[in-house]
Formats: sequence, C-alpha cells, structure tokens
Amino acid sequence: MRNTANRKLDHIRICLEEEVESDYSGFEDVKFFNNSLPELDFYDIHTGIEFLGKKLNAPFFIASMTGGHPETTEINRNLAIAVEENGVGMGVGSQRAALEDERLEESFTVVREVAPKAFIYANIGIPQILQHGIEYAERAVEMIDADALAIHLNFLQEVIQPEGDVNARNGLKAIREVCENLKVPVIVKETGGGISALVAERLRDVGVDAIDVGGAGGTSWIGVEVYRTDDEISKRIGYEFWDWGLPTAFSIVECRGYLPLIATGGLRSGLDVAKSIALGAEIGSAALPFLSAATKSAEEVSRLIEFFVRGLKMAMFLTGSRKVKDLRRCRLMFFGKFKDYLEIKGIDLRKFSNNREV
Ligand SMILES: Cc1cc2nc3c(=O)[nH]c(=O)nc-3n(C[C@H](O)[C@H](O)[C@H](O)COP(=O)(O)O)c2cc1C
Repeated sequence: MRNTANRKLDHIRICLEEEVESDYSGFEDVKFFNNSLPELDFYDIHTGIEFLGKKLNAPFFIASMTGGHPETTEINRNLAIAVEENGVGMGVGSQRAALEDERLEESFTVVREVAPKAFIYANIGIPQILQHGIEYAERAVEMIDADALAIHLNFLQEVIQPEGDVNARNGLKAIREVCENLKVPVIVKETGGGISALVAERLRDVGVDAIDVGGAGGTSWIGVEVYRTDDEISKRIGYEFWDWGLPTAFSIVECRGYLPLIATGGLRSGLDVAKSIALGAEIGSAALPFLSAATKSAEEVSRLIEFFVRGLKMAMFLTGSRKVKDLRRCRLMFFGKFKDYLEIKGIDLRKFSNNREV
C-alpha cells in the first residue's frame, strides 16, 4: 500500500501524463449575448473583488493541488510567486501528509513565505476532520497562516481507492464543529462530484462560509484512480463512473443564493470564469491547467493567470460589464443539456436574462 506522500506523487504524474478529464462541465451550453454597444472604455474595466474579507485583483483562484512530498515544494513555490504577483488566490493541496509527518511541512510553508499577502487557503479532507476534528483544522491553518480552510469532500475518489476512507457518517456534524471553533472562514469544497442545492442548504445551516462547487467536467478523480489500479473490477467501475457528478455549471445554479460560491471543475479560460460569475459564483478557479505550468516556472504560471484574466476582461467588455458584479446582470443563452436541466428544475430562464438590453 502507498503512503500519503507517495500517493500525491502518483496523482501528479498521472495528471501530467494521462488524459484525466471528464467531458461535460455545462459551460459548453451557456453563451452570452454580445453587446455591440457596450458604452464602456476597456481600460475602465475593474476586475477587483473582495472575498471573505480580503481584496483580490481578479476573481480567480488556483485550486488546491499539492504539497506533501519534497518534490512538490517547487510546484507550490511557482504557483505562490505567480499568485502573489497577480493579486489572485490559491489553495494548497491536502495537508494530511504534513500533519502526519512534520518533515513534509516545508512543501506547504513555502507558499506563505513567497506569498505573504495573497489569499491562501488551507486544505484538509473530510475523513481527516472526522478522525482528528478541530485539532487538524487548526494545525493546517497555522502551518501556512491561511486566510481560510477548505474541507474537501472526495468520497467519489475514496470509494474507488483500495486504501480509501469510506466511512462518511457524521460528516456534517464534524463540519459544524470546525465552523464553530475555527478562527478563519470555512470553505467546503467538492472535488468533481458537484454540490446540490440540498447539500448547500445543509452546509449553510451548520455555519459554512463559502462553497467550492467542485463539479464534473474537469479533472476526474475516478479517472485518475483508473490509471493507478491494477484491479480489473476497479478499472471497469472507474470507466463507468468517470463522468459521475453534477456538471460544474449546473452546480453553480444549484448552490446560488445559499452561500458565496467558488466555481471549480473544468474552467479552462477567462470566458469560463465569466460564465461562472454570470451564473452565480463569486470566483472562478482551476487546477489541472496550472500543474504543468508550475513544473516549469513561476513566469509560466503568471502567463496562464494572465490568459484567464484577459479572457475574463474581454467577456466583461463585450457584455458591457464594468465591474465583476455587472456580469450577474448579463443576458445568457442556454442550450442542450443545460436547458433541459433548467427546465426540469423549473427555473425560469428569464432569471438569467433580465435587466439589460443588448
Ligand atoms: C494534481 C491535482 C491534485 C489535487 N489535489 C487536491 C487536494 O489535495 N485537495 C483538494 O481539495 N483538491 C485537490 N485537487 C482537486 C482540485 O482542487 C479541483 O477541485 C479539481 O482538479 C477540478 O478542477 P480542474 O478541472 O480545474 O482540475 C487536485 C487536483 C489536481 C489536478
């Protein structure tokens, strides 16, 4: 059996070398109306926002990925340098390995060393919160002087891993205890399954501060595990569940109105960030595209952030949105499966196409 630190390296190698994405995030089925008369100077566009009490230059996070093995220190350093330079935020990967073995802490602490001002969130899985409660939550936050803690929900991945933690009982109670006792805001974060309205409501009711919807359509953790397993049955099941989950765009619609939302799962451009915000998220975030850049240099990561932010700005310009929150008032078109989903939910499409003449 592989230990936590080695498993993290397996994941990185597989994500760098193999095709691990699932095929539908929902963003394919949303389009903005073009505003041919935006009545706006492109250079007046303001992408700054405030999130959980901290200012960001753009509504963008690099989603939690790594740390926990000495070889991941450089990846986290490059991500964090670029995040600091660009005034955006990032999550570190699960800190479980360093909580179990403090010699691994440097792969996480490097982030705060090179990004003293950026929004950085800590990360720990619900199985570890169930076993160690507030103690692990506090230590994870202290380790990197985090602005928030993300508790990740990943039963979709745990259930296919031979070494997975599959006892999900009392999960909500454990989250409540952390929310009641932790000094920084708590984000609950899915990792590919997407969060439904019912779960969002339960999370709000126990005091969670924000949700990362972590929907389907990007990195598939079942997919990653398919590459790791030699067991034929696990492989067959893995292929069947590869695309499991609520697509990211649908999950934003599910959770809107309950709590501030981070959209993750298959966002591959600034246009996807803009669509996420128009649908109801505060922030767009991506993991996989940044992994390969971070193995090269901080400059590569910075260039990729610029790609996302410029695309967002273009979408803002062409929809006449001077501020990020103006994207919420844009008219949207829905197609295919997304349109079907909204109809099944009984959601009035005009909700997304009001206010603004274009
Ligand atoms: C290499 C890699 C490692 C990851 N490790 C973690 C982790 O430790 N904790 C976590 O909450 N999410 C982790 N994730 C999930 C991401 O934060 C994100 O939810 C998911 O990859 C979907 O976003 P994407 O489609 O942009 O990759 C990881 C993702 C990648 C690609």
